[in-house]
Amino acid sequence: MVGTGYVGLTTGACLAALGHRVVCADIDPAKVGRLRDGRVDILEPGLDELVRRGTAAGNLEFVLGAANAVSPDTDVVFLCVPTPMGADGSADLRAVESVLEEIGELLPAGCAVATKSTVPVGTADRLRHMVGVPIVSNPEFLREGSAVDDFLHPDRIVVGSSDREAAQRVADLYAALQAPTLVLDAASAEMVKYAANCFLAVKLSYVNAIAQLCDRVGADVREVTEGMGLDPRIGRSFLKPGPGWGGSCLPKDTTALLHVADSVGLDFAVLRSAIEQNARQQQDVVDRIRQACDGTIRGARIGLLGLAFKAGTNDLRDSPALRIADALIAEGAEITAHDPAITGELPGMRLVDDPYEAVKGAIAVVVLTEWPEFRTLDWSRVAELMDGFTVVDTRDLLDGADLGEAGLRWKAIGRPC
Ligand code: UDX
Repeated sequence: MVGTGYVGLTTGACLAALGHRVVCADIDPAKVGRLRDGRVDILEPGLDELVRRGTAAGNLEFVLGAANAVSPDTDVVFLCVPTPMGADGSADLRAVESVLEEIGELLPAGCAVATKSTVPVGTADRLRHMVGVPIVSNPEFLREGSAVDDFLHPDRIVVGSSDREAAQRVADLYAALQAPTLVLDAASAEMVKYAANCFLAVKLSYVNAIAQLCDRVGADVREVTEGMGLDPRIGRSFLKPGPGWGGSCLPKDTTALLHVADSVGLDFAVLRSAIEQNARQQQDVVDRIRQACDGTIRGARIGLLGLAFKAGTNDLRDSPALRIADALIAEGAEITAHDPAITGELPGMRLVDDPYEAVKGAIAVVVLTEWPEFRTLDWSRVAELMDGFTVVDTRDLLDGADLGEAGLRWKAIGRPC
């Protein structure tokens, strides 16, 4: 397993739990050291336990550098390294290529390279020349914050390669999970991942736009999405409006697929609109905050509750909360923020470890991440501590009646307040 981010580490620890022998490699010596001691940096329920169990059982180990993870009896090498968005919007494959260069000569005949990293359609076949063994696309569908559970109870396993036999061997590693398994060509497997993530992004942008519309026509988006979700063709999940979608996957995958479409001369207008709508959603939240600050953000004290891109993680990558905070800072706001999973320092704002400290003296308070603990804050105390009285609830998390009783004004997106 090359790369011990949330995907690589979860996959490694879970494959070990299924009884396979797994060697995880990373280029960060400090991280490798911590993992050997059973210390896991990422917030992923159940993962530290699996890491410790695998290490104790002797079928999960951690080494420095990809080359040290490969041995003559290696059956599959998984690539779980980052493929960030490059300057032109396409996926940056340098990490993948550099690993293949490092291990290419070491791979024993009969082994396969499986790519978990989300790579543009065609990559598996294009990189084949770098290694003398088959490359199998094996996209992951793990959500951050429930990655272990998602791994152990998958909706589907997807593998794809021009060498179907190699693809089947990778699929067999998951046999114990008894999930529906698709063995495809490489391009189709790579496409499944992009098509699924981009669909989710389009769904959310659509629902965020519906929420905006509800506000303007006096409808309640919570009831509207309930009515929509009862149609099994739509489904109930992924219908919650918010401050825009973010995280380590959706923003980069939407931009990358749009880039792929552009490169073959296809105008993927619906996807482009979804990306644009997402930026507008974040701008709309800033506008709502401006209104709560009587029209001027400059010099206003604003308390932010939540910074992670979603609850249950400490991940700030492409977090809409950070984008919104940055926009407020650029307009001259004074920001104090609290997130139960984030400590340390962030540029331009004061990060505090007590939610009440974050709301002290604030003209407006903004809920940006749906941490359940925000629901049960003492709103009378919040009202006393604040200088203003508006709480912008971008996640529709709070009980408006509770806030009203405390003398606060609750503002959610698409809900009558
Ligand atoms: C996503 C995919 O779900 C997963 O299958 C893929 O492998 C990686 O990308 P993840 O990035 O962990 O997983 O986050 P997810 O739970 O899908 O949420 C993505 C974004 O959408 C977050 O910013 C979240 O807050 C937002 N979201 C999600 C909503 O605003 N409303 C919803 O109803 C659901």
